[in-house]
Amino acid sequence: MKVLLAVLKQIHKPALCTGNPRCLSSGATSGLLPLGDEAPMVGSSPELVQKLRSQVEVRTDFITEAEEAAFLRELDPGLKKKRYEFDHWDDAIHGYRETERLRWGAACEEILNRVRSTAFPECSQLLGPVHVIDLDNTGYIKPHIDSVKFCGSTIAGLSLLSDSIMRLVKEDTPSEWLDLLLSRRSLYILRDQARYKFTHEILKNEESVFNGQRVPRQRRISVICRNLPG
Ligand code: OGA
Ligand code: MN
Repeated sequence: MKVLLAVLKQIHKPALCTGNPRCLSSGATSGLLPLGDEAPMVGSSPELVQKLRSQVEVRTDFITEAEEAAFLRELDPGLKKKRYEFDHWDDAIHGYRETERLRWGAACEEILNRVRSTAFPECSQLLGPVHVIDLDNTGYIKPHIDSVKFCGSTIAGLSLLSDSIMRLVKEDTPSEWLDLLLSRRSLYILRDQARYKFTHEILKNEESVFNGQRVPRQRRISVICRNLPG
């Protein structure tokens, strides 16, 4: 196995993950507070939402349908050769297959450069290969914090094929949380405290509710860029 894939695997090792705040309620009864105009985020308090505003971004429609199709053409043949993994119950991810890619065709490279210039400062040293996770429609990502040994202060991800909910929960204060609606073709960016002090997870279909609104979770592919630790 290539070294980098092994490194990326580390990200999902339970030892690197934090508490498992799965006791959250969601939906209309939990006092969700909308974050303002179009921002697809709700949180446990206005103060938290305000505090995280500069560290969490979701850009809806960051890529077009044609650009999404370009990613699929490039990724799907390779992904289809792998089987979804369901058996590793201790993994941070359930029902997934993944890959990483260093060299991209021109169309995808151009989109990735847009992601990079949007999410990272120019001087930032990026992790060369881009990480790709294909979640089955029953798949989900449990709460975890990406390895600080291998990844720097910023994580930027495109969501393809399905809407989903990303939940952030403060590691030492589980009552503090933020839900992000990651619509299909959106870009999310997690920085600084949002990246280091909060776990993040992608909710399974049965739990996929945003601000009281059901958000069906189908097969979802994420394309994730990271920088190197400073
Ligand atoms: C990860 C992760 C989120 C996503 O791979 O560490 O949190 O959008 N992925 O797939
Ligand atoms: Mn992660």
